[in-house]
Amino acid sequence: MLDVVRKFPEQAREALEMDFEFDIDFSRIRRVMVAGMGGSAISADILSHFSKIPFHVVRDYAPPPFLDEKTLFIAVSYSGNTEETLSCFSLAKEKCPHVAITTGGKLGEMAENVIKIPSGFQPRAAIAYLLFPMAKLLSRASIIDVDLENAIYILESEREKMEETARMVANEMTGIPLIYGYGVMQSIARRWRQQFNENAKMHAFDFMLPECNHNELEAWEGSREKMTCIFLREREEGERIKTRFDFMREEYKKRAKVIEIYAAGKDSFSRAMYHMHVGDLASIYMAERRGVEAEPVNLIMKLKETLSQHSRSSS
Ligand code: F6R
Repeated sequence: MLDVVRKFPEQAREALEMDFEFDIDFSRIRRVMVAGMGGSAISADILSHFSKIPFHVVRDYAPPPFLDEKTLFIAVSYSGNTEETLSCFSLAKEKCPHVAITTGGKLGEMAENVIKIPSGFQPRAAIAYLLFPMAKLLSRASIIDVDLENAIYILESEREKMEETARMVANEMTGIPLIYGYGVMQSIARRWRQQFNENAKMHAFDFMLPECNHNELEAWEGSREKMTCIFLREREEGERIKTRFDFMREEYKKRAKVIEIYAAGKDSFSRAMYHMHVGDLASIYMAERRGVEAEPVNLIMKLKETLSQHSRSSS
């Protein structure tokens, strides 16, 4: 798993070179809706922060009712067999132009427009293939405006720094990690949480600024648990957010360990990729430290199997 995750910069470059062409009139598109779950959905979450038009990420069995013919519907599922995504896709397919991003599976069979990505990875470790082709599609359609080349350059040139930071996080962490982010880093904080859950097999929680300042902040008045707060910061975060983070650090450090990480990169997408990669690596180092195997997701697979047995026996 560590070897695969370390290849994220190379995978991102390979994914960016993938080519596709669809007969969709993007000038008519007024909103984007992406259906997906877990390691597949997070790619859309991240890109939603850069969209110039309404962008909805659906993690459920049905799309919301405002889906219409001006919606670009993207179904993203690494396996192509995730039941929530398939259910959304079959409800949306006839109503609007669609694209599927998948290795194949049922989704690959059902969709007309498919971006086929390489198989053989855990979905969460295939984030480059799930994210970069979607970003390329949306950039070409002028829906987002992100510098994908620069993001890859940052991933390549900051490799050592990211490794070092990830090791430091895994070595210094005690108790439950609480991860905080603002703007696109809200989605990156969620990714960190998911990666600690799935790779290190541990609980973790993510929080978004400024919202958490209106609720979670107060929990520190009575907090007794052992925890590590990880702040995903940017030098460009702006005065108001800087003041909030600085305030939080001074309060939280009275009761917990606080780790602040600043991302490299001249634009917000590159900085998001930087922070994401640090988190991915940290979760694997944390798995090593805890003596657990990062790759298998036995309980997730057991539930998927239970659900499919259930649908077989009830049909
Ligand atoms: C497993 C992982 C999961 C899956 C999720 C949806 O590595 O990250 O969160 O991504 O169960 O499955 P797919 O991505 O195949 O649609």
